[in-house]
Amino acid sequence: MAIPLVTLLGAATRGGGTEGDGQPPAARQAQVLRGRALLINHGCADCHGGGPNPAADGYLAGARSPEMEFPIGPCAVTPGATPCFRTRPRNLTPDNATGIGRFSERQLFNALRYGLRPGETPDVQITGTTPGKGNFPENPKYLAPPMPWPAFRHMSDQELRDIVAYLKYGVQPVSNRVADSEGPPDFWASEYTVAKIGPYPAPPFPTAKERAPSVATKP
Ligand code: HEC
Repeated sequence: MAIPLVTLLGAATRGGGTEGDGQPPAARQAQVLRGRALLINHGCADCHGGGPNPAADGYLAGARSPEMEFPIGPCAVTPGATPCFRTRPRNLTPDNATGIGRFSERQLFNALRYGLRPGETPDVQITGTTPGKGNFPENPKYLAPPMPWPAFRHMSDQELRDIVAYLKYGVQPVSNRVADSEGPPDFWASEYTVAKIGPYPAPPFPTAKERAPSVATKP
């Protein structure tokens, strides 16, 4: 079936985000491929669907069966124990109604850098890491475990933007509505303390447990 070119162009424009638009196609393609490699080597699709094969069924489409959900809380160790929260990997394909299509690149960046739920966090540039400062929400609504954002936030700005570009522009939209994750009223704030997830940014190198390469390479 022949698809008129205008339709394709229209779709490309409508799917476009706010930042980075107007990039030459070759630069966008290179960015999307960098993001694809990062996404595969960070195991995103192990939880979000499909596993390490971008051709797999359900790739990045989010939870599609109870087996893809996670029991979080004491019930993870002892079945039936409470509290028990069921969390569900979300649809990361750019579908506007059920996936990440309705979020801006900046909202998705903020999800990966700060763990903030894109659906419930204003689309603003965040410069602080303390709640209430530098646009960091006063009452942050964090992504539920086991989404590993505390590890992912240490990727560079460029790497996170590359992942976001891949999700927005390099993946086919799939309609799959994932039920909301369950969680405590504080949206996991008490789980994401510095004591539990470490400082961001990491302390300056080298700490007492590390060594500078110039020292390390001396005989
Ligand atoms: C260990 C499982 C796991 C892995 C690995 C994982 N995620 Fe997630 N992710 C989740 C869960 C669970 C949620 C749902 C959190 C919630 O509902 O609050 C989620 C939510 C998200 C969201 C929020 C989407 C929305 O609509 O709110 C984004 C964006 C996201 N993940 C991106 C990624 C990316 C990119 C990677 C890899 C770099 C990744 N995830 C790896 C489990 C995972």
